[in-house]
Amino acid sequence: MKFFVDTADIDEIRKALAWGILDGVTTNPTLVAKTGRRFEDVRAEILQLVAGPVSLEVTDMTLDGMLRQGRTLAQLGKQVVVKLPLTREGIAACKALTDEGIKTNVTLCFTANQALLAAKAGATYISPFVGRLDDVSSDGMLVIADIVQIYRNYGYQTNVLVASVRHPVHVLQAAKLGAHVCTVPYKVLDQLFNHPLTDRGNEQFLKDWAKVPGQS
Ligand code: G3P
Repeated sequence: MKFFVDTADIDEIRKALAWGILDGVTTNPTLVAKTGRRFEDVRAEILQLVAGPVSLEVTDMTLDGMLRQGRTLAQLGKQVVVKLPLTREGIAACKALTDEGIKTNVTLCFTANQALLAAKAGATYISPFVGRLDDVSSDGMLVIADIVQIYRNYGYQTNVLVASVRHPVHVLQAAKLGAHVCTVPYKVLDQLFNHPLTDRGNEQFLKDWAKVPGQS
């Protein structure tokens, strides 16, 4: 499973890159707004740092506007993935941009049927939001299981990108279900390292190592 970091914060991207386990980045308008910086500046910096897929979202909700923004974004770098909402216009834009060879990520997906539409439109990635489904008492991971099964049934090439991840168990479940990608907030990525037995074991090894003659 690939790990993307779900952030527009350059420091977080740098720190995740330094671990050597990062495959790409996803952003959205909310994450860009949180930086307090211009989108043009943020995306340029991300594209300089990250060679893997970088999802940049359109904000015009008309078909023409999405196509215009999508083409402009795609010209910024080979790694750009145009993020489109799962609306009628977004799906039509996905089909048109896919036909032009532009990579797409269809976002705001909450049902397997919506994911089926994205696959039929040739999306590179589908982003089901598991955390937001959990928030309204639906099991987000059940939707992931359905999408993985349906894509497998028909051999769709669209990658299942688990989004709206809130905790390490979401990551574990995504991997067990065979999702292609999990986009993870920096905080949750950092939490994946943690185990008290790792810390305690390491402390003990270092204490014992200090007892070995000739070591300090
Ligand atoms: O990037 C889309 C998604 O990951 C948003 O997550 O936490 O705002 O539901 P969240």
